[in-house]
Amino acid sequence: MKELLGKLNTAHALTLSEYEALILGMDEDSRTYAAELAVSHRKRIYGTDIFVRGLIEFTNYCRNDCFYCGIRRSNRNAERYRLTSEEILSCCREGYRLGFRTFVLQGGEDPYCTDDRMVPLVKTIREAYPDCAITLSLGERPRDSYQALFDAGADRYLLRHETADSLHYAKLHPAELSWEHRMQCLRELKEIGYQTGCGFMVGSPYQTARSLAEDLLFVQKFQPAMCGIGPFIPHRDTPFAGRPAGTLEMTLYLLSILRLIKPDLLLPATTALGTIHPRGRELGIEAGANVVMPNLSPTGVRDKYLLYDNKICTGEESAQCVGCLETRMKSIGYTIVQNRGDPADSAETETKCSQHV
Ligand code: 5AD
Ligand code: FES
Repeated sequence: MKELLGKLNTAHALTLSEYEALILGMDEDSRTYAAELAVSHRKRIYGTDIFVRGLIEFTNYCRNDCFYCGIRRSNRNAERYRLTSEEILSCCREGYRLGFRTFVLQGGEDPYCTDDRMVPLVKTIREAYPDCAITLSLGERPRDSYQALFDAGADRYLLRHETADSLHYAKLHPAELSWEHRMQCLRELKEIGYQTGCGFMVGSPYQTARSLAEDLLFVQKFQPAMCGIGPFIPHRDTPFAGRPAGTLEMTLYLLSILRLIKPDLLLPATTALGTIHPRGRELGIEAGANVVMPNLSPTGVRDKYLLYDNKICTGEESAQCVGCLETRMKSIGYTIVQNRGDPADSAETETKCSQHV
Protein backbone atom coordinates (compact mmCIF):
# COMPACT_ATOMS: atom_id res chain seq x y z
CA MET A 1 0.00 0.00 0.00
CA LYS A 2 2.81 2.39 0.93
CA GLU A 3 4.34 1.93 -2.47
CA LEU A 4 1.08 2.72 -4.28
CA LEU A 5 0.42 5.73 -2.09
CA GLY A 6 3.98 6.93 -2.67
CA LYS A 7 3.47 6.63 -6.40
CA LEU A 8 0.17 8.53 -6.24
CA ASN A 9 1.84 11.17 -4.09
CA THR A 10 4.29 12.07 -6.84
CA ALA A 11 2.57 11.03 -10.09
CA HIS A 12 -1.00 12.00 -9.06
CA ALA A 13 -2.26 9.16 -11.22
CA LEU A 14 -2.76 5.41 -10.95
CA THR A 15 -4.47 2.73 -13.04
CA LEU A 16 -7.91 1.36 -12.32
CA SER A 17 -6.54 -1.83 -10.80
CA GLU A 18 -4.08 0.13 -8.69
CA TYR A 19 -6.92 2.21 -7.27
CA GLU A 20 -8.86 -0.96 -6.63
CA ALA A 21 -5.89 -2.45 -4.80
CA LEU A 22 -5.60 0.70 -2.67
CA ILE A 23 -9.24 0.40 -1.66
CA LEU A 24 -9.12 -3.32 -0.96
CA GLY A 25 -5.92 -2.82 1.01
CA MET A 26 -7.19 -0.12 3.32
CA ASP A 27 -6.07 -0.63 6.90
CA GLU A 28 -5.02 1.60 9.74
CA ASP A 29 -1.47 2.00 8.43
CA SER A 30 -2.53 2.92 4.91
CA ARG A 31 -5.10 5.39 6.24
CA THR A 32 -2.55 7.09 8.45
CA TYR A 33 0.02 7.26 5.68
CA ALA A 34 -2.49 8.55 3.07
CA ALA A 35 -3.66 11.25 5.50
CA GLU A 36 -0.07 12.31 6.24
CA LEU A 37 0.73 12.73 2.55
CA ALA A 38 -2.61 14.46 1.87
CA VAL A 39 -2.20 16.95 4.70
CA SER A 40 1.28 17.86 3.57
CA HIS A 41 0.03 18.68 0.04
CA ARG A 42 -2.82 20.70 1.45
CA LYS A 43 -0.49 22.54 3.82
CA ARG A 44 1.85 23.44 0.97
CA ILE A 45 -0.98 24.85 -1.14
CA TYR A 46 -3.51 26.18 1.36
CA GLY A 47 -1.60 26.49 4.65
CA THR A 48 -4.11 26.08 7.47
CA ASP A 49 -6.84 27.94 5.58
CA ILE A 50 -10.30 26.39 5.41
CA PHE A 51 -12.77 27.82 2.93
CA VAL A 52 -16.44 28.26 3.77
CA ARG A 53 -19.39 28.14 1.45
CA GLY A 54 -22.83 29.27 2.60
CA LEU A 55 -25.31 26.62 1.64
CA ILE A 56 -28.85 27.74 0.79
CA GLU A 57 -31.15 24.76 0.32
CA PHE A 58 -33.84 26.67 -1.50
CA THR A 59 -36.23 23.97 -2.72
CA ASN A 60 -36.89 20.35 -1.83
CA TYR A 61 -39.28 19.73 -4.70
CA CYS A 62 -37.73 17.17 -7.01
CA ARG A 63 -38.94 15.53 -10.19
CA ASN A 64 -36.47 12.69 -9.84
CA ASP A 65 -36.79 9.48 -7.92
CA CYS A 66 -33.25 8.45 -6.96
CA PHE A 67 -33.51 5.38 -4.74
CA TYR A 68 -31.22 6.77 -2.02
CA CYS A 69 -32.60 10.28 -1.62
CA GLY A 70 -35.10 11.46 0.96
CA ILE A 71 -36.54 14.21 -1.25
CA ARG A 72 -37.29 11.85 -4.17
CA ARG A 73 -40.66 12.53 -5.72
CA SER A 74 -42.20 9.30 -4.44
CA ASN A 75 -41.63 10.25 -0.83
CA ARG A 76 -45.08 11.41 0.22
CA ASN A 77 -43.83 12.06 3.74
CA ALA A 78 -41.47 14.83 2.66
CA GLU A 79 -42.99 18.20 3.47
CA ARG A 80 -42.24 20.27 0.39
CA TYR A 81 -41.06 23.90 0.44
CA ARG A 82 -39.60 26.42 -1.92
CA LEU A 83 -38.00 29.71 -0.86
CA THR A 84 -39.01 32.87 -2.69
CA SER A 85 -36.36 35.01 -4.41
CA GLU A 86 -36.71 37.50 -1.55
CA GLU A 87 -36.06 34.78 1.00
CA ILE A 88 -33.03 33.58 -0.94
CA LEU A 89 -31.69 37.12 -1.15
CA SER A 90 -32.20 37.58 2.55
CA CYS A 91 -30.13 34.41 3.18
CA CYS A 92 -27.38 35.94 1.04
CA ARG A 93 -27.59 39.20 2.99
CA GLU A 94 -27.26 37.36 6.29
CA GLY A 95 -24.47 35.22 4.83
CA TYR A 96 -22.55 38.25 3.62
CA ARG A 97 -22.87 39.84 7.04
CA LEU A 98 -21.46 36.66 8.56
CA GLY A 99 -18.46 36.84 6.25
CA PHE A 100 -19.41 34.49 3.41
CA ARG A 101 -18.09 35.25 -0.03
CA THR A 102 -19.52 32.14 -1.70
CA PHE A 103 -23.18 31.25 -1.89
CA VAL A 104 -24.29 27.81 -2.92
CA LEU A 105 -27.85 27.61 -4.20
CA GLN A 106 -28.81 23.98 -3.93
CA GLY A 107 -32.13 22.32 -4.61
CA GLY A 108 -33.91 19.32 -5.96
CA GLU A 109 -34.72 19.26 -9.67
CA ASP A 110 -37.70 21.53 -9.21
CA PRO A 111 -39.67 22.13 -12.43
CA TYR A 112 -40.66 25.53 -11.05
CA CYS A 113 -37.03 26.67 -11.29
CA THR A 114 -37.05 27.55 -14.96
CA ASP A 115 -34.44 29.74 -16.58
CA ASP A 116 -36.99 32.56 -16.61
CA ARG A 117 -36.98 32.43 -12.83
CA MET A 118 -33.38 31.44 -12.11
CA VAL A 119 -31.57 33.78 -14.53
CA PRO A 120 -32.96 37.00 -13.00
CA LEU A 121 -32.23 35.67 -9.50
CA VAL A 122 -28.62 34.91 -10.38
CA LYS A 123 -28.28 38.36 -12.00
CA THR A 124 -29.64 40.06 -8.89
CA ILE A 125 -27.22 38.20 -6.62
CA ARG A 126 -24.36 38.92 -9.01
CA GLU A 127 -25.13 42.67 -9.01
CA ALA A 128 -25.64 42.84 -5.25
CA TYR A 129 -22.47 40.86 -4.45
CA PRO A 130 -19.89 41.44 -7.17
CA ASP A 131 -17.15 40.18 -4.83
CA CYS A 132 -18.82 36.83 -4.19
CA ALA A 133 -18.79 33.52 -6.00
CA ILE A 134 -22.15 32.08 -6.97
CA THR A 135 -22.35 28.31 -6.99
CA LEU A 136 -25.35 26.48 -8.37
CA SER A 137 -26.41 22.93 -7.62
CA LEU A 138 -29.65 22.43 -9.53
CA GLY A 139 -29.09 19.06 -11.11
CA GLU A 140 -29.28 18.15 -14.77
CA ARG A 141 -30.35 20.90 -17.17
CA PRO A 142 -30.00 21.50 -20.90
CA ARG A 143 -26.72 22.99 -22.06
CA ASP A 144 -28.30 26.31 -23.01
CA SER A 145 -29.70 26.62 -19.51
CA TYR A 146 -26.24 26.09 -18.00
CA GLN A 147 -24.96 28.69 -20.46
CA ALA A 148 -27.69 31.23 -19.60
CA LEU A 149 -27.03 30.85 -15.87
CA PHE A 150 -23.31 31.22 -16.46
CA ASP A 151 -23.89 34.36 -18.52
CA ALA A 152 -26.09 35.68 -15.71
CA GLY A 153 -23.11 35.48 -13.36
CA ALA A 154 -22.87 32.00 -11.86
CA ASP A 155 -19.26 30.86 -11.44
CA ARG A 156 -19.45 27.33 -10.16
CA TYR A 157 -21.69 24.29 -10.51
CA LEU A 158 -21.88 21.22 -8.33
CA LEU A 159 -23.25 18.07 -9.90
CA ARG A 160 -22.17 14.90 -8.19
CA HIS A 161 -21.65 12.15 -10.72
CA GLU A 162 -22.85 9.75 -7.94
CA THR A 163 -20.91 6.81 -9.38
CA ALA A 164 -18.58 6.50 -12.35
CA ASP A 165 -19.70 2.93 -12.93
CA SER A 166 -22.71 2.95 -15.28
CA LEU A 167 -24.01 -0.43 -14.07
CA HIS A 168 -23.85 0.78 -10.49
CA TYR A 169 -25.61 4.00 -11.52
CA ALA A 170 -28.50 1.93 -12.85
CA LYS A 171 -28.90 0.27 -9.44
CA LEU A 172 -29.18 3.61 -7.66
CA HIS A 173 -31.58 5.30 -10.07
CA PRO A 174 -34.77 4.54 -11.96
CA ALA A 175 -34.38 3.72 -15.66
CA GLU A 176 -35.43 7.21 -16.76
CA LEU A 177 -32.17 8.64 -15.38
CA SER A 178 -29.12 8.01 -17.47
CA TRP A 179 -25.49 7.85 -16.44
CA GLU A 180 -24.45 8.99 -19.92
CA HIS A 181 -26.56 12.12 -19.62
CA ARG A 182 -25.17 12.98 -16.22
CA MET A 183 -21.63 12.63 -17.49
CA GLN A 184 -22.53 14.75 -20.51
CA CYS A 185 -23.85 17.48 -18.20
CA LEU A 186 -20.54 17.48 -16.32
CA ARG A 187 -18.57 17.81 -19.54
CA GLU A 188 -20.81 20.65 -20.72
CA LEU A 189 -20.49 22.53 -17.44
CA LYS A 190 -16.73 22.38 -17.69
CA GLU A 191 -16.72 23.43 -21.34
CA ILE A 192 -18.91 26.44 -20.57
CA GLY A 193 -16.32 27.58 -18.06
CA TYR A 194 -17.86 26.74 -14.71
CA GLN A 195 -15.57 25.69 -11.92
CA THR A 196 -17.16 22.29 -11.82
CA GLY A 197 -17.64 19.96 -8.90
CA CYS A 198 -18.41 16.27 -9.16
CA GLY A 199 -18.67 13.76 -6.34
CA PHE A 200 -20.02 10.49 -5.07
CA MET A 201 -21.36 8.71 -2.02
CA VAL A 202 -19.20 6.30 -0.08
CA GLY A 203 -20.81 2.98 0.78
CA SER A 204 -23.92 3.33 -1.34
CA PRO A 205 -25.79 0.07 -1.97
CA TYR A 206 -24.15 -2.20 -4.58
CA GLN A 207 -20.92 -0.19 -4.50
CA THR A 208 -17.80 -2.30 -4.94
CA ALA A 209 -14.09 -1.58 -4.64
CA ARG A 210 -14.08 -1.61 -8.42
CA SER A 211 -16.79 1.04 -8.72
CA LEU A 212 -14.99 3.25 -6.18
CA ALA A 213 -11.82 2.77 -8.22
CA GLU A 214 -13.80 3.98 -11.26
CA ASP A 215 -14.77 7.08 -9.25
CA LEU A 216 -11.15 7.82 -8.46
CA LEU A 217 -10.06 7.28 -12.05
CA PHE A 218 -12.87 9.55 -13.21
CA VAL A 219 -11.69 12.34 -10.90
CA GLN A 220 -8.14 11.83 -12.16
CA LYS A 221 -9.28 12.21 -15.77
CA PHE A 222 -11.97 14.87 -15.34
CA GLN A 223 -9.85 17.13 -13.12
CA PRO A 224 -12.78 18.88 -11.41
CA ALA A 225 -12.26 22.04 -9.36
CA MET A 226 -14.20 20.39 -6.53
CA CYS A 227 -15.24 16.95 -5.42
CA GLY A 228 -17.92 16.38 -2.81
CA ILE A 229 -17.94 13.03 -1.08
CA GLY A 230 -19.75 11.80 1.97
CA PRO A 231 -20.99 8.53 3.38
CA PHE A 232 -24.26 7.14 2.10
CA ILE A 233 -26.78 7.33 4.96
CA PRO A 234 -30.11 5.53 4.56
CA HIS A 235 -33.35 7.49 4.64
CA ARG A 236 -36.33 5.75 6.20
CA ASP A 237 -38.76 6.63 3.42
CA THR A 238 -36.68 5.35 0.51
CA PRO A 239 -36.17 1.92 -1.05
CA PHE A 240 -32.75 1.86 0.64
CA ALA A 241 -34.17 2.21 4.17
CA GLY A 242 -32.37 -0.07 6.59
CA ARG A 243 -29.24 -0.44 4.44
CA PRO A 244 -25.94 0.08 6.23
CA ALA A 245 -24.38 3.55 6.03
CA GLY A 246 -20.97 4.19 4.49
CA THR A 247 -18.11 4.08 6.95
CA LEU A 248 -16.14 6.92 8.48
CA GLU A 249 -12.86 5.12 7.76
CA MET A 250 -13.46 4.62 4.05
CA THR A 251 -14.69 8.20 3.61
CA LEU A 252 -11.61 9.63 5.33
CA TYR A 253 -9.30 7.38 3.34
CA LEU A 254 -10.90 8.44 0.06
CA LEU A 255 -10.62 12.12 1.03
CA SER A 256 -6.88 11.60 1.47
CA ILE A 257 -6.58 9.74 -1.83
CA LEU A 258 -8.51 12.47 -3.67
CA ARG A 259 -6.11 15.08 -2.28
CA LEU A 260 -3.22 13.04 -3.69
CA ILE A 261 -4.92 12.75 -7.08
CA LYS A 262 -5.36 16.52 -7.32
CA PRO A 263 -3.45 18.42 -4.63
CA ASP A 264 -5.33 21.72 -5.10
CA LEU A 265 -8.78 20.08 -5.21
CA LEU A 266 -11.52 21.84 -3.25
CA LEU A 267 -12.63 19.06 -0.98
CA PRO A 268 -15.47 19.59 1.49
CA ALA A 269 -15.82 17.89 4.84
CA THR A 270 -19.53 17.30 4.30
CA THR A 271 -22.56 17.42 6.54
CA ALA A 272 -23.08 13.69 5.91
CA LEU A 273 -19.61 13.07 7.35
CA GLY A 274 -20.55 15.18 10.37
CA THR A 275 -23.72 13.14 10.69
CA ILE A 276 -22.10 9.71 11.00
CA HIS A 277 -19.57 10.88 13.59
CA PRO A 278 -19.71 13.81 16.04
CA ARG A 279 -16.24 14.94 14.91
CA GLY A 280 -16.65 13.78 11.32
CA ARG A 281 -15.94 17.16 9.77
CA GLU A 282 -12.85 17.76 11.89
CA LEU A 283 -11.60 14.28 11.00
CA GLY A 284 -12.33 15.07 7.35
CA ILE A 285 -10.11 18.15 7.51
CA GLU A 286 -7.40 16.10 9.20
CA ALA A 287 -7.65 13.59 6.36
CA GLY A 288 -7.12 16.29 3.71
CA ALA A 289 -10.40 18.17 3.15
CA ASN A 290 -10.26 21.99 3.02
CA VAL A 291 -13.84 23.26 2.69
CA VAL A 292 -16.81 23.40 5.05
CA MET A 293 -20.33 24.34 4.05
CA PRO A 294 -22.41 25.73 6.89
CA ASN A 295 -26.12 25.95 6.32
CA LEU A 296 -27.59 29.39 5.58
CA SER A 297 -31.14 28.19 4.96
CA PRO A 298 -33.83 29.74 7.15
CA THR A 299 -34.42 27.67 10.29
CA GLY A 300 -38.07 27.10 9.35
CA VAL A 301 -37.14 24.88 6.39
CA ARG A 302 -33.92 23.26 7.62
CA ASP A 303 -35.56 20.13 8.89
CA LYS A 304 -37.31 19.60 5.56
CA TYR A 305 -34.25 19.28 3.35
CA LEU A 306 -33.59 15.77 4.51
CA LEU A 307 -31.71 13.65 2.01
CA TYR A 308 -30.89 11.12 4.73
CA ASP A 309 -31.84 10.38 8.36
CA ASN A 310 -30.45 12.20 11.41
CA LYS A 311 -28.97 15.13 9.47
CA ILE A 312 -27.13 17.55 11.75
CA CYS A 313 -27.54 21.34 11.93
CA THR A 314 -31.28 21.30 11.27
CA GLY A 315 -32.14 23.28 14.40
CA GLU A 316 -29.38 25.86 14.25
CA GLU A 317 -29.46 29.51 13.15
CA SER A 318 -26.96 30.39 10.38
CA ALA A 319 -24.84 32.36 12.82
CA GLN A 320 -24.75 29.38 15.18
CA CYS A 321 -23.52 27.07 12.43
CA VAL A 322 -20.82 29.53 11.46
CA GLY A 323 -19.72 30.00 15.05
CA CYS A 324 -19.79 26.27 15.66
CA LEU A 325 -17.66 25.51 12.62
CA GLU A 326 -15.20 28.28 13.47
CA THR A 327 -14.73 26.81 16.91
CA ARG A 328 -14.42 23.31 15.52
CA MET A 329 -11.78 24.37 12.99
CA LYS A 330 -9.83 26.38 15.58
CA SER A 331 -9.85 23.39 17.91
CA ILE A 332 -7.78 21.43 15.39
CA GLY A 333 -5.49 24.34 14.44
CA TYR A 334 -7.18 25.59 11.27
CA THR A 335 -8.65 28.98 10.35
CA ILE A 336 -11.77 29.73 8.37
CA VAL A 337 -10.99 32.37 5.74
CA GLN A 338 -13.41 34.89 4.34
CA ASN A 339 -12.75 34.99 0.64
CA ARG A 340 -14.22 33.39 -2.45
CA GLY A 341 -12.06 30.34 -1.91
CA ASP A 342 -10.93 29.81 -5.49
CA PRO A 343 -8.16 27.30 -6.01
CA ALA A 344 -5.93 30.40 -6.46
CA ASP A 345 -6.80 31.78 -3.02
CA SER A 346 -4.04 29.81 -1.43
CA ALA A 347 -1.19 30.54 0.90
CA GLU A 348 1.33 29.64 -1.79
CA THR A 349 -0.20 31.76 -4.58
CA GLU A 350 -0.67 34.73 -2.31
CA THR A 351 3.03 34.78 -1.51
CA LYS A 352 3.88 34.32 -5.15
CA CYS A 353 1.56 37.16 -6.17
CA SER A 354 2.98 39.59 -3.64
CA GLN A 355 6.46 38.77 -4.86
CA HIS A 356 5.39 39.68 -8.37
CA VAL A 357 3.87 43.03 -7.40
N1 5AD B 1 -26.94 9.69 1.91
C1 5AD B 1 -25.86 10.44 1.64
N2 5AD B 1 -25.82 11.34 0.65
C2 5AD B 1 -26.93 11.50 -0.09
N3 5AD B 1 -27.18 12.28 -1.14
C3 5AD B 1 -28.46 12.07 -1.53
N4 5AD B 1 -29.03 11.15 -0.75
C4 5AD B 1 -28.10 10.76 0.15
C5 5AD B 1 -28.07 9.82 1.20
N5 5AD B 1 -29.13 9.07 1.50
C6 5AD B 1 -26.16 13.11 -1.79
C7 5AD B 1 -26.09 12.83 -3.28
C8 5AD B 1 -26.52 14.15 -3.89
C9 5AD B 1 -26.15 15.14 -2.81
C10 5AD B 1 -26.86 16.43 -2.90
O1 5AD B 1 -26.46 14.47 -1.63
O2 5AD B 1 -24.77 12.50 -3.64
O3 5AD B 1 -25.86 14.44 -5.09
FE1 FES C 1 -24.25 23.66 12.18
FE2 FES C 1 -22.29 22.99 13.97
S1 FES C 1 -22.14 23.46 11.90
S2 FES C 1 -24.37 23.52 14.34
